[in-house]
Amino acid sequence: MEKFKFYCPTEIIFGKDSELSTASLIKKYNGHNVLIVYGGGSVKRSGLLDKICQQLSNDNLSYMILGGVQPNPIVSFVNDAVKKAYQANIDFILAIGGGSVIDTAKAIAHGLKYPQNDIWDIWTKKLTLTNTTPMGSIVTLAAAGSETSDSAVLTNEQIGQKRGLSTPFNRPCFAIMNPQLTYSAPNYQKACGIADILMHTLERYFAKEQHNYLTDYIAEGLLKDVMLQGKTMLEEPTNYIAHSEIMYAGSLSHNDITGLGRTKDFSVHKFGHELSAKFDATHGASLTTMWASWARYIYKQDIKRFCHLGKVLFNITGENEQVALETIKEVEKFFASLGLPTSISQLVGKKLTDEDIVYLSNMCTDNKTKTIGNFVPLNYDDVYAIFQLANH
Ligand code: NZQ
Ligand code: ZN
Repeated sequence: MEKFKFYCPTEIIFGKDSELSTASLIKKYNGHNVLIVYGGGSVKRSGLLDKICQQLSNDNLSYMILGGVQPNPIVSFVNDAVKKAYQANIDFILAIGGGSVIDTAKAIAHGLKYPQNDIWDIWTKKLTLTNTTPMGSIVTLAAAGSETSDSAVLTNEQIGQKRGLSTPFNRPCFAIMNPQLTYSAPNYQKACGIADILMHTLERYFAKEQHNYLTDYIAEGLLKDVMLQGKTMLEEPTNYIAHSEIMYAGSLSHNDITGLGRTKDFSVHKFGHELSAKFDATHGASLTTMWASWARYIYKQDIKRFCHLGKVLFNITGENEQVALETIKEVEKFFASLGLPTSISQLVGKKLTDEDIVYLSNMCTDNKTKTIGNFVPLNYDDVYAIFQLANH
């Protein structure tokens, strides 16, 4: 193994009825006055929000409710929420929802410690985060892995930028994961979740560092499991086993375990974030749009690795360029079989103009001042070429 640091302090409560421990967990982490954050209303419709409110009341916890987080969550929502939470003396943030709600809750938790600042100052590192407010989540969608990750992603809607912030302060105190709470998510969101989970491991799997065999086995096991159980999950909306496997994989894939000893690449995420910022595309779909084009552009960096993946996932044998390309094709076919886009026109309904691609490439590289990725660092020209490859 190469050297690594691993710090993932989030307490995970997994399984049926796990949400029944919400109030006791909030107390354990010193919450008294809770801000409950949720999204567009799925948790109201399912009755989950009411149940949690009742539970908090029964346990003498006071709370304030704040709904309306949108997918690809935005900065102005967070800034407003921080003001309200500050005035209400909130000391704990509870997210009930998917990655967008959890990321918003993380941002509000940070913002509460800096109520005079714009939250974007923390995202752009103008302000160094040295403290946060305790937060936890009840997860309703297996996808982003935010419930245990060190990351949170916000869109600054005024300047059209979607950016992640990675910091140990983003690790929540607890994650309540009852797979049954994910049953009601639409199949498209579940499919996007499957893609995101696969991608969090793939973006760690292709790295310059070699000889991390245990990390490889964990990563490959996760990829195989998610591809198999993901299909079942989509076909059987109340299959507990499939939903639980995917839910566990969602956290495991992005809490860093599938990448220990390696440098993350995450260039496909960078492409995806720019597409989401410009077209409000769903995160998982933005990734499947770009992955194969990225892979076809860089695969020569490590043909052996692509062939090995092909053997593990698809039983393709051989070790040459053709096999590497076949592997990429099979991954792409798998995404398509989930009903997800594998080209830009499938994602946004049209081919982009050259002006659009120039814009996206500039956004990715901070106007040609930065490269993205680590497996193969990509400069502006590479990024432009990859967007062109996907633009069909
Ligand atoms: O808003 P509601 O009404 O709850 O509906 C949501 C939303 O419309 C719906 N949904 C979720 N659970 C449901 C449900 N509908 C019915 N029943 C349920 N049980 O699904 C829709 C999408 O929700 P969202 O939270 O946006 O999805 P996801 O979990 O995929 O999160 C995506 C966001 O997370 C970021 C993405 O960029 C994107 O902004 N990411 C966060 C990461 C992190 N913090 O570590 C890492 C990821 O790479 C990703 O970038
Ligand atoms: Zn992701």
